[in-house]
Amino acid sequence: MIYSQTDSSIIFTQSASEELKQLLAGWKGKVFILSDKNSEKYCLPKLMEKLDKEIHHLSVNEGEQHKNTATVVQIWEFLNRNGADRKSLLINLGGGVICDMGGFAASTFKRGIDFVQVPTTLLSQVDASVGGKTGINLNSYKNEIGCFSFPIKVIIDTGFLQTLDDENILSGYAEMLKHAYISGEAYLGQLLRLDLAEGKLDYGLLLELVKQSVQIKEKIVLADPMENGLRKVLNFGHTVGHAFESFFMGKPSEISHGKAVAYGMAAELCLSHSKLGFPKEKLAQSLAYIEKLYGKPSVGPSNFGALYDLMTHDKKNEASLVNFTLLKDVGAPMIDQTASREEVFGCLEGDSV
Ligand SMILES: NC(=O)c1ccc[n+]([C@@H]2O[C@H](COP(=O)([O-])OP(=O)(O)OC[C@H]3O[C@@H](n4cnc5c(N)ncnc54)[C@H](O)[C@@H]3O)[C@@H](O)[C@H]2O)c1
Ligand SMILES: [Zn+2]
Repeated sequence: MIYSQTDSSIIFTQSASEELKQLLAGWKGKVFILSDKNSEKYCLPKLMEKLDKEIHHLSVNEGEQHKNTATVVQIWEFLNRNGADRKSLLINLGGGVICDMGGFAASTFKRGIDFVQVPTTLLSQVDASVGGKTGINLNSYKNEIGCFSFPIKVIIDTGFLQTLDDENILSGYAEMLKHAYISGEAYLGQLLRLDLAEGKLDYGLLLELVKQSVQIKEKIVLADPMENGLRKVLNFGHTVGHAFESFFMGKPSEISHGKAVAYGMAAELCLSHSKLGFPKEKLAQSLAYIEKLYGKPSVGPSNFGALYDLMTHDKKNEASLVNFTLLKDVGAPMIDQTASREEVFGCLEGDSV
């Protein structure tokens, strides 16, 4: 199995259609596109602009609740019904749900056919499109079924993001912030200068920043493809973040993955300060910035026990110790850090309303 992605397999462009046209020009087999209802409406016409090849298209219902076996069966049946064979290509046009699920369906159909990812949300462009993780949920277990499998190409075009709502922009931006905190001041400084106000977003500049985020993640993934050590730096903000995500899940106050990670980063920065001496002024600036963009989670001391329990159940924790990636400074992550119940409660204190 190939555990890496070559540099040339991720393309940054302002015309995904043009890139795909070139790729398909030499393609001998049948071509299929998978989308969800939103990427069909907002992105498919733009992607099809330059294409002249016959393409079979399937659109599935959007949302995390459809990232399941029933939809994968629907995709396999669609491929089968339309005569897909080992030489066929599946293009996944959509957010992380479509890229993860389409990647998995392609990797398992006839023991694996080629696929291309065309991520259309900021989160999927900076995160889900890199690293080779594909999969679906099983009942309430997230990404329980899946495999490592790499697309032949990832085509990243920030033009698709123009129809994305603020909540989804902010969700992806949180992962970019995470990349900056683990990589260094230079990228963090660039991100902080980006104007995220509605109508002000510069998609050309965003493409450059997305590229840097992808390169940061790619470098880490290449050094540790199977998540044995270094890759855990990507978990910064996620131990507490996953707890917030699960805590609010199914409630009217449900929050996006990125918002949960932003809250998680705030809490883990506090922990980084108390345990590893993360600089005080940078902590204050970071907390103010995160609060300005994402607000504060509506939890209080009576919820800390439940949040702590969710952290101890996180699958990335060995035994029942809570495992964190913390920072000595911006760009200086330390994996496999642990904290006591009191220390975790302390960091949640700083993060709650
Ligand atoms: N494979 C990985 O390494 C990895 C990493 C991070 C996240 N993920 C997965 O990604 C998923 C989350 O991704 P997501 O946030 O992109 O969610 P998503 O795919 O559900 O997309 C969010 C929403 O945006 C809509 N949408 C997509 N593109 C649009 C566009 N251009 N304009 C308007 N609306 C658009 C979608 O239909 C959906 O309603 C999760 O399932 C998560 O597990 C995977
Ligand atoms: Zn994440």
